[in-house]
Amino acid sequence: MRRPWRIPKQRAKLPPGSMGWPFVGETLQLYTQDPNVFFVTRQKRHGEVFKSHILGCPCVMLASPEGARFVLVTHAQLFKPTYPKSKEKMIGPSALFFHQGNYHNLIRKLVQSSLSPDTIRKLIPSIESVAISALESWSSGHIINTFHEMKKFSLDVGILSIFGHLNSNFRQMLNDNYHIVDKGYNSFPTKIPGTAYHKALSARKRLNQILSEIICERKEKGLLEKDFLGNLLNFKNEKGEILTEDQIADNIIGVLFAAQDTTASVLTWILKYLHDDQKLLEAVKAEQMAIYEANGRGEKPLTWAQTRNMPLTYRVILESLRMASIISFTFREAIVDVEYHGYLIPKGWKVLPLFRNIHHNPEFFPDPRILDPSRFEVAPKPNTFMPFGNGVHACAGNEIAKLEMLVLIHHLVTRFRYSSGIFHPSGDQLFR
Ligand code: HEM
Repeated sequence: MRRPWRIPKQRAKLPPGSMGWPFVGETLQLYTQDPNVFFVTRQKRHGEVFKSHILGCPCVMLASPEGARFVLVTHAQLFKPTYPKSKEKMIGPSALFFHQGNYHNLIRKLVQSSLSPDTIRKLIPSIESVAISALESWSSGHIINTFHEMKKFSLDVGILSIFGHLNSNFRQMLNDNYHIVDKGYNSFPTKIPGTAYHKALSARKRLNQILSEIICERKEKGLLEKDFLGNLLNFKNEKGEILTEDQIADNIIGVLFAAQDTTASVLTWILKYLHDDQKLLEAVKAEQMAIYEANGRGEKPLTWAQTRNMPLTYRVILESLRMASIISFTFREAIVDVEYHGYLIPKGWKVLPLFRNIHHNPEFFPDPRILDPSRFEVAPKPNTFMPFGNGVHACAGNEIAKLEMLVLIHHLVTRFRYSSGIFHPSGDQLFR
């Protein structure tokens, strides 16, 4: 029997849109134009469903909330996650986001229980001490690169959420090698020694070795931790099977990878938005100062309840996620011919739900280019706000991402003052 979404090719037509030049398609335009312009001009020209050819692949792009929901939620079984092979190799092929079905469900449950609100609330004091030591390292008067510093911060919090408290030797080794992997991740994939990609592959192998030593030490000490590593190590299915060391390593690197650049980019945008809107910065500062005073000028640690009651700061985070839309879109691949709104999405084509277009559509967010946290005083319409994706592959770390951003902003605005585009330590508060 034929299912409703399986249709003969001759009945449905491909969506409108240009496939660009032979071989390169529209890739050059994508890389030379502002990505906002690239996607929005095509949406204006062709509507909410259009085709293109980028990065060597024919694609169908969906710029509507219901299109994104169709691919990621209601018909997710017809689309599989897809990444370039070189990237899959770098992170590790067993990482959950490359998979569908039972294996994905299994690992996802382990990640979710390690990053659930109940688990992460216990990490607040440790996240605070990571934030404070980052801030102290910025206070010596030298110029820092905000994005690089935010990357260090989010990697440290990522390590914390995976391993709990890890000895500083292991932490340093993870940091050093992860940094090399990160540098090579987007470089041209080649096996030629000396290239960034080759160095990254070697560092990725060393990371496996380091993880194996960490696991060995845990087993020797008989530690039964409830963190992500603990959950991976303790897993046993009904047949008594456990996860292999490669499956454990690939998922740890996968989570670190998912956690670092994303959070660091959003934090960097938040700092820029606060710099551009001094009134908003003052209001955020007032909200945070009240908590700081209530905690004996920072003598007492932040509580979970306090982090849940920072309404303005929270709305600034949501609005920054919308404005910056740092994950502009995601990729899936049609595993059969699919019909959507009378258009054919051929098997093997990539499908891109365009989060940024949805977040910048004036129908859902009036004056979309203006930063206005108050728009989140009412909940956005369903499926119009997806900074963390949607469906079975939606972000498993969204709660910890928001928590670490709240904690960092709290300490930044209460201990630093902002002048001429720079955050300065405010008086002696930092050097108690
Ligand atoms: C502001 C920061 C973050 C943003 C904007 C973000 C965004 C996203 C998005 C859009 C996806 C879905 C991708 C897709 O459907 O193809 C995703 C997946 C994921 N994220 Fe995040 N993320 C953030 C931080 C984090 C953090 C801190 C962690 C972990 C500590 C994390 C762990 C994951 C994992 C494990 C997945 C894959 C889930 C799966 O395939 O089942 N993310 N993230």
